[in-house]
Amino acid sequence: MISLGLLAIVAAASAVDITNINQLEAAKNAQRITLRDINVPAGVTLTLDKLKPGTVVEFAGKITFGYKEWEGPLIEIGGKNIRVEGKPGHLINCEGERWWDKLGGNDGKKKPKFFSARLTDSSIVGLAIKNIPAHGFSVNSCKNLTISKIHLNVAEGHQKGGHNTDGFDVGNSEKIRISDSFVHNQDDCLAVNSGSDITFENNVCIGGHGISIGSVGGRKNNIVEKVKVIHCKVSDSDNGIRIKTVKEATGAVRDIVFDDVELKNIAKRGIVIQGNYLNKGPDGDPTGGVPITGLTINNVRGNVLKGGANVHVWVANASNWKWSGVKVTGGQKAMEHKGVPPGVKW
Ligand SMILES: *[C@@H]1O[C@H](CO)[C@@H](O)[C@H](O)[C@H]1NC(C)=O
Ligand SMILES: *[C@@H]1O[C@H](CO)[C@@H](O)[C@H](O)[C@H]1NC(C)=O
Repeated sequence: MISLGLLAIVAAASAVDITNINQLEAAKNAQRITLRDINVPAGVTLTLDKLKPGTVVEFAGKITFGYKEWEGPLIEIGGKNIRVEGKPGHLINCEGERWWDKLGGNDGKKKPKFFSARLTDSSIVGLAIKNIPAHGFSVNSCKNLTISKIHLNVAEGHQKGGHNTDGFDVGNSEKIRISDSFVHNQDDCLAVNSGSDITFENNVCIGGHGISIGSVGGRKNNIVEKVKVIHCKVSDSDNGIRIKTVKEATGAVRDIVFDDVELKNIAKRGIVIQGNYLNKGPDGDPTGGVPITGLTINNVRGNVLKGGANVHVWVANASNWKWSGVKVTGGQKAMEHKGVPPGVKW
């Protein structure tokens, strides 16, 4: 005779469809958890943590969220050896326009962050996301995480007051690979604040502030090393590629590669490397406490709009840069440079 308890264990070990967030706790032992057509209540994080290694989490149908002014995140997923994936036709629609007030993450309405990843030896694949309220993916304290085929569409933010809609914020993480993704937003496509061995490959960034390392300095972890940005496109953005370190802070930015990056219609700076970042903007002379060393820029090409500058370097204590094949043209803004290591030309 098979007991009900045994049946429950058999069911728990296989696949579970969740259509209401209340069913989540009971489903956490399943090998495959499908989140289908869920409306997450206001002020609640859709939390999937303490999952068993090997768990697959799927997003299916339409995922929406109730409205509340709070810090979020809307979704948090943690664990080891977890695969998160989107099923064909699904959409995670945050309806961020309900929060947008042109003031972003620091002011006005309090806006929930979108997605907090706390993952090791894991992957996030094929999610389709629309209109995040403010910051998108927060990759913090993750190790060996692959994020690919993400479609993050916040295009409506340009008309409707979206701001600080970062694509991927990476901090304090190791061995992170973000690839084959699309981001249309109103802030950094990628921002790396700290971490090591981070690859950003074959991504398209539209409308935002470009691909950024920084700001680095003034946090708990102030080292960024071994970052590779390869084969990406940045268009209709404020900047193309950027490194910014915090003035008077300490730390290091080292072994950074930008290779094969195509820029199109960049409004402010095609390539900008600055060591004087303070309170959300550049401020006077750079300081050298966060030296930028081992910076390779190869085959970065494209156009800056007339009012912008093709390249701007404003650093101290930088060394061992290798730049080649930089063909950024069109910008007519004349800018002074500081701290360019010997031999670097563009
Ligand atoms: C990294 O994670 C993947 C799963 O995404 C796993 O297959 C691989 O073994 C992990 N690598 C290491 C070195 O643990
Ligand atoms: C320059 O960087 C080195 C580390 O490479 C550091 O020891 C030194 O203090 C820095 N200099 C300044 C002026 O900050």
